[in-house]
Amino acid sequence: MADGAATTSWWLKGNFAPVEREVEAFDLPVTGALPPELSGVFMRTGPNPAREPSAHWFLGDGMIHGVRIEKGKARWYRNRYVRTPLIERGILTRDPSVFGDKRASTANTNIIRHARRIFALEEAHFPYEIDGELKTKGCVDFDGRLKTAFTAHPKICPLTGEMLAFGYSFMPPYCVYHRFDREGRLVQSEEIPVGGPVMMHDFCATRTKVVFMDLPIVFDMASAMQGGMPYKWSDDYPARLGVMPREGTARNLKWFSIPYCYVFHPLNAYDDGEAVVLDVARYEKMWVKGFDVPAHLHRFRLDLSTGLARSEQLDDHPIEFPRVADAKAGLEHRYGYAITTHGDDEAGFNLGSEIVKFDLARGSASVARLGKGRFPSEAVHAAAGKGEDDGYLLSIVYDASRNASDFLVFDATDIAKGPVATVALPQRVPFGFHGAWFAD
Ligand SMILES: [Fe+2]
Repeated sequence: MADGAATTSWWLKGNFAPVEREVEAFDLPVTGALPPELSGVFMRTGPNPAREPSAHWFLGDGMIHGVRIEKGKARWYRNRYVRTPLIERGILTRDPSVFGDKRASTANTNIIRHARRIFALEEAHFPYEIDGELKTKGCVDFDGRLKTAFTAHPKICPLTGEMLAFGYSFMPPYCVYHRFDREGRLVQSEEIPVGGPVMMHDFCATRTKVVFMDLPIVFDMASAMQGGMPYKWSDDYPARLGVMPREGTARNLKWFSIPYCYVFHPLNAYDDGEAVVLDVARYEKMWVKGFDVPAHLHRFRLDLSTGLARSEQLDDHPIEFPRVADAKAGLEHRYGYAITTHGDDEAGFNLGSEIVKFDLARGSASVARLGKGRFPSEAVHAAAGKGEDDGYLLSIVYDASRNASDFLVFDATDIAKGPVATVALPQRVPFGFHGAWFAD
């Protein structure tokens, strides 16, 4: 499809539109100074429909954009499709020949590294393994042990090295929990009895527990038959959160009723005595009228001794893509990072032009203002030093006035002072989903 092809769907216009070519460029121009202690690859994935227009932003073929940083230099940029059957056979997600085929992933949602393997993920299918130069190695079913779809948001415990994950489906079993040991072996799968075929985009893990979000976005057959996003908001579906020990079974699940809401992404979760604390980007509703209600940082406290759930809004910035430092995953955090939404409609969607850093100990937020017409993608923390905050925030930023994208590096301890380095990328990077920093 032509870059910026005429169509009315917002996810095919402006910088949501796909790029046409896979390119690579070396020794990229840098303004400012790249921190010499940063050595590794930043990767970010997103939808980049390869043929005709996708039926929803979430349904385009996954393309990964990578930036290699080494010894203060930006060594290369490249973008590559994940070579899934959709790309290799040139077919669409709605082609009947791939219904029920767990290998027919778009791999467009997230990238993680576990047990020295890098996986490109999308939540309705199996993972795809890629290498450090964005080459697809193949589809992964963990020696045949994985029998369900695999979430795009597994959690990796910084203390044990375990990976905790799940898969959901519109067909029973609707949700299955998966636990992997530090070597990447799938050692436990447990069915989780949710109330119906919900869309469960993400979940939470603490040092000792996992939390499932059984929330009212539910599979809708009529939408599925039309080839669009097959999930819809339901006013009749009770919202609840389920807490289970990491090595537990469904018999150990405790459910907490909560007011109606939807959560795509938690920031983090942790144990606090007999309670589990979840900080999340919470929407009061979702897809009633598109994405027009913003999410805010919100804290749930689930008390296992009383069975009661409490919640409070922590901040009033409209946000998405909340992240915590990898070393704090499942542990009590002080800082969190997100990008704003609902700030600047120049891109034809509710995008913001800021990166926000939350200091939850002080109850404050600091903001990196990128300026009108400049839109960050998810800001990823790259650790450098011992403190939770020590390190850098990395984000690909689209500049509408130049129709170009840059890779920005912020000092995570002081994002408001602006980037310490800006790497000019050789082509614009369409708005997408999640990414990661893989230190050497
Ligand atoms: Fe996500």
